[in-house]
Amino acid sequence: MDHFLYRDGVLHAEDVSLRDIAAQVGTPFYVYSSATLERHFQVFSEALHGLDHLICYAMKANGNLAVLRLMADLGAGIDVVSGGEYAKARAAGVPGNRIVFSGVGKTVAEMRLALSGGIRQFNVESEPELLALNAVALDLGTVAPITLRINPDVDARTHPKIATGLSDNKFGIPMAKARMAYGVAAGLPGLEVVGIDVHIGSQLTDLEPYRQAFAKVADLTEALRADGHAIKRLDLGGGLGIPYARSNQAPPLPTEYGAVIRETVGHLGCEIEIEPGRLIAGNAGLLVASTIYLKHGAERDFLILDAAMNDLIRPAMYEAHHDIVPVAEPVPGVEPRPVDIVGPVCESGDTFAKQRLMPPLGAGDLVAFRSAGAYGAVMASEYNCRPLIPEVMVKGDQFAVVRARPTYEEMISRDTLPPWSNGQDG
Ligand code: LLP
Repeated sequence: MDHFLYRDGVLHAEDVSLRDIAAQVGTPFYVYSSATLERHFQVFSEALHGLDHLICYAMKANGNLAVLRLMADLGAGIDVVSGGEYAKARAAGVPGNRIVFSGVGKTVAEMRLALSGGIRQFNVESEPELLALNAVALDLGTVAPITLRINPDVDARTHPKIATGLSDNKFGIPMAKARMAYGVAAGLPGLEVVGIDVHIGSQLTDLEPYRQAFAKVADLTEALRADGHAIKRLDLGGGLGIPYARSNQAPPLPTEYGAVIRETVGHLGCEIEIEPGRLIAGNAGLLVASTIYLKHGAERDFLILDAAMNDLIRPAMYEAHHDIVPVAEPVPGVEPRPVDIVGPVCESGDTFAKQRLMPPLGAGDLVAFRSAGAYGAVMASEYNCRPLIPEVMVKGDQFAVVRARPTYEEMISRDTLPPWSNGQDG
């Protein structure tokens, strides 16, 4: 069930009118539906039902503290990729033994933070990282649980910027070197091998690459067990895609993805971890913006919004499509017209959609970007000195600001002048 529906002619998030939020919070803002977040988590739980598993929400998709707390309350683990994410997951109440640490360039400081604070496992991506982590663990007088991330050389058939499982990507250890790397890990006293990790990319709309990658993981599990390694855990990464355009064919369902997991690795008796981000958060969030002007250009009309590429970078960065809908329900019989939907930033790349068919809209009218709950707020910047926009969480008929809009003063005060400026040094 979709929790963003028109009611009495106005788009709602659950039982809250977006117009009411806009009136109170101002635009632009992100809004998340807690019921949708919860449902998406449950869909994965059901897909893996009966398998010993942990769903480690990839917080890079949406790391708001309120989202993390909701996930923690549902029993999720968290996939983190930086010291900052680790600290935020802990601040949200996630216990260390439910946090997995991924990423190709973990620093010694990050390893130290996670190892002393408690960690379920590090997903190690190279031999130099094995050696560094071993040294940190020995220094702390502890043992670091690890998997090695394997690069299965599988084409995820997604946007090249978010494909990670090909041999020319920076990620993971090549399959051909895996047994050797496990041999190195086993010889290091600060490390304990617990399993294998793989993640082939994001926004996958086809299950075949998963099937190929997981089958390779199954073969490797058997080979490594024969070599004497205790492979008890398989982290299968994230990446399952979501429908961005309502008109397009929907990507595979989590139940079908779960079936591929059962078929390929279900017989190995391993604990299964998955790291979904986008599927949990993406369609649980909207970006709501106001129209500043409708501008008639030489050849086309431009709908100029108060949201821009700094608030939602995905169209500029990945040529991503987001459905954009008016908050006032379109009146039947009114012809939609093509417009370019743009932001106020001084780049032509600040274009959300070209020649999109929209009902007639003008200054002050609200629009909502669908599928903006993942890789939206987290990728925002203050480019053009535009303060980060607020985030709002809805639950039933309640809403709360879960990140406030900074004032200009707050934004400016993060910079400081060097002591020699303004003649202060005489
Ligand atoms: N695990 C690892 C190791 C990852 O690198 C990622 C995503 C995930 C899990 C979660 O993948 P998901 O389930 O969300 O597809 N900014 C891009 C997406 C970048 C994905 C990076 N890694 C976008 O807006 O499309």
